[in-house]
Amino acid sequence: MKSVYIKDIYRNVEKYADQTVVIEGWIRTLRASKAFGFIEVNDGTFFNNLQVVFEESLANFSEIAKLSISTSVRVEGKLVITPDAKQPFEIKAINITVEGKSSNEYPLQKKRHSFEYLREIAHLRPRSNTFSAVFRIRSLAAFAVHQFFQEKGFVYTHTPIITGSDAEGAGEMFRITTLDPKKPPVDEKGEVDFTKDFFGKETSLTVSGQLQGEAYALAFRNIYTFGPTFRAENSHTARHASEFWMIEPEMAFADLNDNMELAEEMLKYIINYVLENAPEEMDFFNKFVDKGLLDRLKGVVSSDFGRVTYTKAIELLKECKENFEYPVEWGCDLQTEHERYLTEKIFKKPVFVTDYPKDIKAFYMKLNEDGKTVAAMDLLVPGVGEIIGGSQREDKLELLEERMDAMDLDKEEYWWYLELRKYGSTRHSGYGLGFERAIMYLTGMANIRDVVSFPRTPKSADF
Ligand code: 4AD
Ligand code: MG
Repeated sequence: MKSVYIKDIYRNVEKYADQTVVIEGWIRTLRASKAFGFIEVNDGTFFNNLQVVFEESLANFSEIAKLSISTSVRVEGKLVITPDAKQPFEIKAINITVEGKSSNEYPLQKKRHSFEYLREIAHLRPRSNTFSAVFRIRSLAAFAVHQFFQEKGFVYTHTPIITGSDAEGAGEMFRITTLDPKKPPVDEKGEVDFTKDFFGKETSLTVSGQLQGEAYALAFRNIYTFGPTFRAENSHTARHASEFWMIEPEMAFADLNDNMELAEEMLKYIINYVLENAPEEMDFFNKFVDKGLLDRLKGVVSSDFGRVTYTKAIELLKECKENFEYPVEWGCDLQTEHERYLTEKIFKKPVFVTDYPKDIKAFYMKLNEDGKTVAAMDLLVPGVGEIIGGSQREDKLELLEERMDAMDLDKEEYWWYLELRKYGSTRHSGYGLGFERAIMYLTGMANIRDVVSFPRTPKSADF
């Protein structure tokens, strides 16, 4: 007999009621007396476990009664509806076979473990309730992203991971090297020559697919990327990882307003998608991780995001500067505490901050008429802070070159990017959504290490 998925049973109970079914999964809990016992089985297809009752009449009763948590089993039995019990139905076992025993040293015992501890056993934590919920949400949210953009006709563009251009111009790249540290090739002066590494070119892991995305937007009009990006910033915060995933749409014939509209529509779409498709997981987060999460998210999808210019935001923050460790002055980069205050205390909802001073933003952003600010937008959300960074791009060759010179960037390295301004340049805009930050926002999880399967942060690269 073929096994059925526990999810299928939960979603179609009538079909299975009083039928003999087979399930395969792992033991989450087991308690047994002399005459009977209960096993909660989870097969990974669904958040909830399915309870199996087994009795003395089983040939291997005493073996089953002694099994450890996480043993994999195959259970054949009758599905019975139990209207008076805690769980809506259970399986009365006819046969239980053990597929693979688990040792009693299995670390995920029934008690609650701290997230810090679970990070040390990243290979086992997806078997816990919290992490099974996190990573199913992550999968669904990724699908929602694709569905959102595909429904709009955006072309999914695969931008390179190994690249010769620093998309942010911030020098936070991980170098690619094939050099053997024990035998570095040294030149006459005794210096190691790294430039020979990628067939004569120096390359790094990408920090963003934006620049290549712009090239494709100027061919397809609307594109998006969705892939891993890497930042060599040594930030020990709960919101920074060295490797993270980013979604970067780019639209030709679109300005900053079009950009904000798209970002707002996209985020609401993702929220609605997970609320609809993972109600059990979302209830769990609401109860155990972040009380009030569901009400908050439902409020977000049914109201407009706030909008404020950087200049106005600084004025608002200055009025309550006694709340901050870092000073607020026009020209300063907003610190996490400022971002969170704006979105959590002043606006109490997601808010776009626009038109930042040019000196604290990347070289490619379009200069505004005032000559001081650029057409940038960051989306800040309660609980997380910056979740999206984007802008209208500088589409005038001269202005872009001027900006690159002022920032001391080597124009030769960006020759192809500059050419895009020579052959049919047009206004165009895009943004990057940090996927992990989006998952933190959707689940209420407070640390980026807990929304990445095997996180890459300073000091964590064991797995
Ligand atoms: O603001 P950022 O640096 O913008 C860009 O990379 C642009 N090229 C995007 C674009 O316009 N196409 O990064 C975008 C988002 C941030 O808002 C944040 O959510 C996330 O990426 N992010 C990180 N997430 C985790 N760890 C890090 N170290 C991150 N750095 C940025
Ligand atoms: Mg940013």
